[in-house]
Amino acid sequence: MIDPDWWRQAAIYQIYPRSFKDSNGDGLGDINGITSKVDYLKSLSLDAVWLSPFYPSELADGGYDVADYRNVDPKLGTLKDFDKMLKALHKAGIKVFVDIVPNHSSDHHIWFKEALASAPGSKTRERYIFRDGKGKNGELPPNDWVSHFAPSAWTRTNNPDGTPGQWYLHLFAPEQPDFNWDNREVQLDFIKTLKFWSDRGVDGFRIDVAHALKKDMKRINASYPGIDSFSVGTKGTDILFDRNDVHEIYREWRKLFDQYNPPRVAVAEAYVVASRRMLYARPDELGQAFNFDMLNLDFKAAPFKKTIEQNLKLAKSEGSSSTWVLNNHDRVRTATKYGLPDGTDLNQWLLSDGKSKKLDIDLGLKRHRAAIMMMMGLPGCTYIYQGEELGLREVEDLKHEDLQDPNWARNIVTKPQSVYFKKERKTIQGVAVIHTEKGRDGCRVPLPWSKSGRSFGFGSGDSHLPQPNWFGEHSVEVEAKKKGSTLEMYKAALALRKKLQTSEDLEWIKTSSAEVVHYRRPNGWSSITNFRGADFTLPAGEILLSSGPLKAGRKLPKATTVWMMIK
Ligand code: NOJ
Repeated sequence: MIDPDWWRQAAIYQIYPRSFKDSNGDGLGDINGITSKVDYLKSLSLDAVWLSPFYPSELADGGYDVADYRNVDPKLGTLKDFDKMLKALHKAGIKVFVDIVPNHSSDHHIWFKEALASAPGSKTRERYIFRDGKGKNGELPPNDWVSHFAPSAWTRTNNPDGTPGQWYLHLFAPEQPDFNWDNREVQLDFIKTLKFWSDRGVDGFRIDVAHALKKDMKRINASYPGIDSFSVGTKGTDILFDRNDVHEIYREWRKLFDQYNPPRVAVAEAYVVASRRMLYARPDELGQAFNFDMLNLDFKAAPFKKTIEQNLKLAKSEGSSSTWVLNNHDRVRTATKYGLPDGTDLNQWLLSDGKSKKLDIDLGLKRHRAAIMMMMGLPGCTYIYQGEELGLREVEDLKHEDLQDPNWARNIVTKPQSVYFKKERKTIQGVAVIHTEKGRDGCRVPLPWSKSGRSFGFGSGDSHLPQPNWFGEHSVEVEAKKKGSTLEMYKAALALRKKLQTSEDLEWIKTSSAEVVHYRRPNGWSSITNFRGADFTLPAGEILLSSGPLKAGRKLPKATTVWMMIK
């Protein structure tokens, strides 16, 4: 029998399918590519993998614009391929999470097409959020709400006869219309989707923007010019985010999950303050919620310790276990972030193609290794994003023409510019377009599997995002053979973790340095991290693994974590 609590302390590896492994040479990673790498995944001692969306999509937002929730993108394979992959992963002892994107669909979803083809006020429009515009002829958006991908959250449609029509709401790109979650048809369709994948044998779900589904459209006339889901307060009465009534949805989902054996599990992506986030993790709701707090920290002892303490307490208070995340497909990779001066504005640095501040590559990697080992020893779930086990850095110098993230194209400001043409002796007045966000493509560059080759073993053709030359040295082929490689460390740490992860408790051990964080699990498994302090003399006990070399006399240098058995 499978332990129904298997997820509480799991190691879960995030696969971004289009960038994992391309089996047919079209430049896009695919389902058969994942199946071909099951042995690799097994070698990481994982409990589960989470697949970012692999559904039919026009890729307006890397697959988070879903055209059909119960199918596989033909560019990535078929449902049959999916079943084969699932079987192979299960055989290897690895469970599978899929990504559910319930806030919005793609504008290519059949329902949205039906809505556009029908008249205002019709039933099919009720599945989304259509409203008349303001102004004499409805030429102005219904209000000032903005989208995450900027600028307005409203886009005007054309009526079936070609005349300008109503507007629809999209909290993300215009290609991602928001569903109307007050509509029972929408609610039931997602139940159908969850059942579809659960019946196929999928073990869990990652719920995209779980905090945004319910909106108070009665307050459509209220101004809401910002889009910061962290500052909406704790009452659950905001217009757009983290509303109390969103929890009704998840309580209904839980009833479905519990009909399976073992019950299906779920994790909420809820970008809200920590205390509110835990509401999504209640046992009668999704069970777990992503804790992104570590993603925002500089590599410093005090904030890490505080974040860990706070999240362990919070998770316990709702009967859940914490999750820990240092990397995902939306954030600058830690091997880069930790190699930049503290407080660097990462977006500005990316916009400068990595030129505005010097990156210390060695320091970044060292700290990345130390941080991940510290994280993996904690009680709760460890999330790993593909490529971090190779110590991959952000690809900061992608050319503008290669960028795919809507954040790049949509976040622009224009300003008047006059250009003098010497030869013609003429000044032309024009407009300069300035991009204010480079976007998230730099952490989504396809994985290097081999040292050389057209796309470093990712596929037989070019990869959909170009890989830099330094990827070869970080390839699986190189790292699998190299002593002391990051891959070797991840494998050893994950294997040990699997063996030692027992009770969910932890005690803090006081150290002589504010820069050294030491915790111990009840079975003696201990993790000691020297963030930025002087060499630290280790206590007595067996050394199990370290993220970097120790110095003579059992000394732990800075930017290093060691795991010990201290009875
Ligand atoms: C969160 C996902 O992680 C991100 O990649 C996506 O752009 C948004 N949700 C919208 O679906």
